[in-house]
This record gives sequence, structure tokens and C-alpha cells, in this order.
Amino acid sequence: MENLKDKVAVITGGNSGIGFATAKELKEQGATVIITGRRKEAIEKAALELGVTGIVSDQSKIADIQDLALKVKTDFGKVDILFINAGIAGLGTIEETSEELFDNIMNVNFKGAYFTLSKFIPILKDNASVVFLSSNTASIPGPGSSVYSSSKTALNSVMKSAALELAPRKIRVNSVSPGPTQTEVMNKVGLDSETVKTIMDVVVEKVPLKQMGRAEDVAKMVSYLSSENAGFITGADFIMDGGMVLA
Ligand SMILES: NC(=O)c1ccc[n+]([C@@H]2O[C@H](COP(=O)([O-])OP(=O)(O)OC[C@H]3O[C@@H](n4cnc5c(N)ncnc54)[C@H](OP(=O)(O)O)[C@@H]3O)[C@@H](O)[C@H]2O)c1
Repeated sequence: MENLKDKVAVITGGNSGIGFATAKELKEQGATVIITGRRKEAIEKAALELGVTGIVSDQSKIADIQDLALKVKTDFGKVDILFINAGIAGLGTIEETSEELFDNIMNVNFKGAYFTLSKFIPILKDNASVVFLSSNTASIPGPGSSVYSSSKTALNSVMKSAALELAPRKIRVNSVSPGPTQTEVMNKVGLDSETVKTIMDVVVEKVPLKQMGRAEDVAKMVSYLSSENAGFITGADFIMDGGMVLA
């Protein structure tokens, strides 16, 4: 059964990983899906493969977010599902973190996510669903991930304020916080593949279920939260990390 028939869904960062898997899932549930990303070729390829609309838009640029909201409004009307997923990782101790690294992460993961919600509020339908892609690191402060963790902790706070601000319009706002999940994210932090593998092996050791998460499972959670079955859920964060947050 198609749970999201006739719904218009916008997914930021939909050309790979969790965003791509969610675009596939929401489309299968009957939604009309729009995905975004920075890389033109990657977004066009993904859009073609998924049979959805792809729009090049950089979440770290407010002008791009404004243009995106305008384009979506013009071409699709109001939005039922907003999945604010685009994000980047970055590692560094507090001592060695540069202003550039700090700004890169915060501008995409926090400022960009914040203003994506802000600029889309006027074109959200009443009863719409907003989901932020956070991270279990918001609850597990670790060495070397202070900026990334803080960007996601900040998102969780905004999620709760937004749930209260938008409740009068019956718009629900939630977040999903995966643990280590098999995607492209770590391949983009500028480390060689051997180092990434070593880091991921160490991380998986810390997961009680001793495995990585799957983007498809996160997609199913986002799909559920965006459906009428989740009509009484707002202001909640869903940790999907194989028990890592407890260990
Ligand atoms: N994988 C994990 O272990 C994990 C765990 C917890 C949370 N997360 C979060 O999950 C979200 C999705 O990441 P992923 O793991 O699926 O990684 P991914 O495969 O690297 O996907 C990230 C997506 O975001 C897009 N993106 C990055 N910066 C952007 C920007 N400035 N504007 C627009 N799009 C942008 C990327 O497209 P372009 O490169 O073309 O811009 C890509 O489509 C992120 O918020 C990440 O922090 C991931």
C-alpha cells in the first residue's frame, strides 16, 4: 500500500547515502520527490536513476535555499514532507580545528539546516512532516568530533523549538539520529581509504550489535515519521545506532 500517495517531498542531499535511499523509499510510497545536492552531475545521475526531480542547491548558502523554496513552490506548490538531510562530517581536536573547518561544518549542518526549515515554513502544508537528520553523536560527545557533534546537538534543540512553534498548524517536526551507517559520508572527509576503514572498524567495535546501520533502514524510519501513522509524534528524536549510545 502506498502510504504517501500525492504527497510532495523535498529531500536535501539526495544524491547519495541516506538521502538517496529515502528518495527511493518515499517514491515507492507514492510521493512526488525532489532531491538536492551540490554536485550537478551527481544530482542529475541520481534523479534519473530514481525517476525524481533533482535540483542543484547548496545548503550552506541562504540564497540557494531561498531559490530552492521558490522553485519548489512554483513547480510543485506546497510541500507535505521536508527531510533536511544534507550534511558533512569533519574531524579534528578542539586545539587543531581551524575556523574554516568550523564554518564548513556549521554552515551546512546547522545554519543551512536551520534556514532550510525557516525558508520552507511558508510553503509547508498544514499537517506537514519535517524530519532533521541528526546523529547519535549529538548524545555521545567524543574526542575529535566536537564541531560535528555540536552541529547535531544544536539541530536537536531547533527541532524541539520548531515542534512547538509549528504545532498550531499541526506540522510535526522530529529528528532521526543514526549511528555509523554505510554511506559515502566518511569518504568525503579527506582521509585515505585505509584510514577511514581503521576508524570505522574502531567505531563498529563500540556498537553493541557489532554492525553498521543501513541507509535503507533510516529511509523507512523517515517514511514512517512522514506518514499519518506517526500523526501523534512530534518533538522526538529517534536514535538508530545498534545500542551505541548506551555503551
Ligand atoms: N553515515 C553515517 O554514519 C551518519 C551517521 C549519523 C548521521 N549522518 C548524517 O546523515 C546525513 C546524510 O549523510 P550520509 O551519511 O548519507 O552521507 P553522504 O552519502 O555523503 O550524503 C550526503 C548528501 O548530502 C549532500 N550535501 C552535502 N553537503 C551539501 C550542501 N552543502 N548542500 C547540499 N547538499 C549537500 C551530498 O551531496 P553533494 O556532495 O553533491 O553536495 C549528499 O547527497 C548527514 O547529515 C550526516 O551528518 C550520517
